[in-house]
Amino acid sequence: MALNIAFIGVGNMARAIFSGMLASGYPAENIIGTSRTPEKRDFYHEHYGVSMLADNFAAVDDADVVVLCVKPAQMKVVVEEFSEHVRSDQLFISVAAGIELNALENWLGKPVSIVRSMPNTPSQLGAGMTGLIANEQTTDEQKEWVSELFASIGHSVWVDQEDHMHTVTALSGSAPAYFFRFLESMITNAKAQGMDEETSRQLASHAMLGAAKMVVELEEPIEQLRKNITSPNGTTEQALWSLDASDIDRVVGDAMTACINRSKEMSNDFSVQSDEE
Ligand SMILES: NC(=O)c1ccc[n+]([C@@H]2O[C@H](COP(=O)([O-])OP(=O)(O)OC[C@H]3O[C@@H](n4cnc5c(N)ncnc54)[C@H](OP(=O)(O)O)[C@@H]3O)[C@@H](O)[C@H]2O)c1
Repeated sequence: MALNIAFIGVGNMARAIFSGMLASGYPAENIIGTSRTPEKRDFYHEHYGVSMLADNFAAVDDADVVVLCVKPAQMKVVVEEFSEHVRSDQLFISVAAGIELNALENWLGKPVSIVRSMPNTPSQLGAGMTGLIANEQTTDEQKEWVSELFASIGHSVWVDQEDHMHTVTALSGSAPAYFFRFLESMITNAKAQGMDEETSRQLASHAMLGAAKMVVELEEPIEQLRKNITSPNGTTEQALWSLDASDIDRVVGDAMTACINRSKEMSNDFSVQSDEE
């Protein structure tokens, strides 16, 4: 029988996850969401068939699995409101950026299974990549269930150290924005060559999609894929020389380090919040 799952805070990320679950055949009657806004509750109930409540406590009380989907800044207040009624057989999954397992453990107030996840925006299209880490209480069976949950919105990987969640943020969490930025730059430059925006967008975006598919689907080292299309004295070689002359590894490295540093700062802010109780 399907587990009862409650989404606390139904916005973009919760909707991406439960619409993926519904598309994979998860029964709508086993899904509850919460929102403070009556119009949103009506909308999600009518469009997805899930139950919608205003009361987080009632949703948690009825759930085997609770997915915490409010914004990071709201998490402490929301979790502490229902923490007294948490049961030790429940599994909690947080999608909030920057909130560490020990902060969630503090706010929930008793030893329970907790999984921290870092999904990304392509999850909305079932093409997400999610990094996952579990606390000690989480069983292998629960981890398997969580992997299946995130399979409904794309792929997932488990990391074994929480510190790696910062790297997950820099590698897959924020990465769609790097690629958007790169595409913007390519399109701007194609327009400078006289091509119209729509044609430039189609050419650049499908090139990126095709390249990503080659990386994911062909079992070849990425370096080899690059070499295969870099003929000596050809056009690609000229472009790659130019990128290397601009020290692309340093540019990307600086961007990822900036992302990791900010992720660490955010985690520190939330752990201070949990120490201040
Ligand atoms: N979007 C992404 O791509 C992405 C990627 C990775 C991680 N995340 C994480 O996902 C979480 C949610 O992000 P989001 O983009 O989905 O945000 P969002 O669209 O703003 O959704 C958050 C929802 O929480 C609801 N909410 C706020 N306080 C509540 C309360 N006390 N009780 C019940 N519901 C409450 C809000 O609805 P009402 O105001 O109607 O209550 C809102 O719709 C964040 O923690 C974020 O870090 C998001």
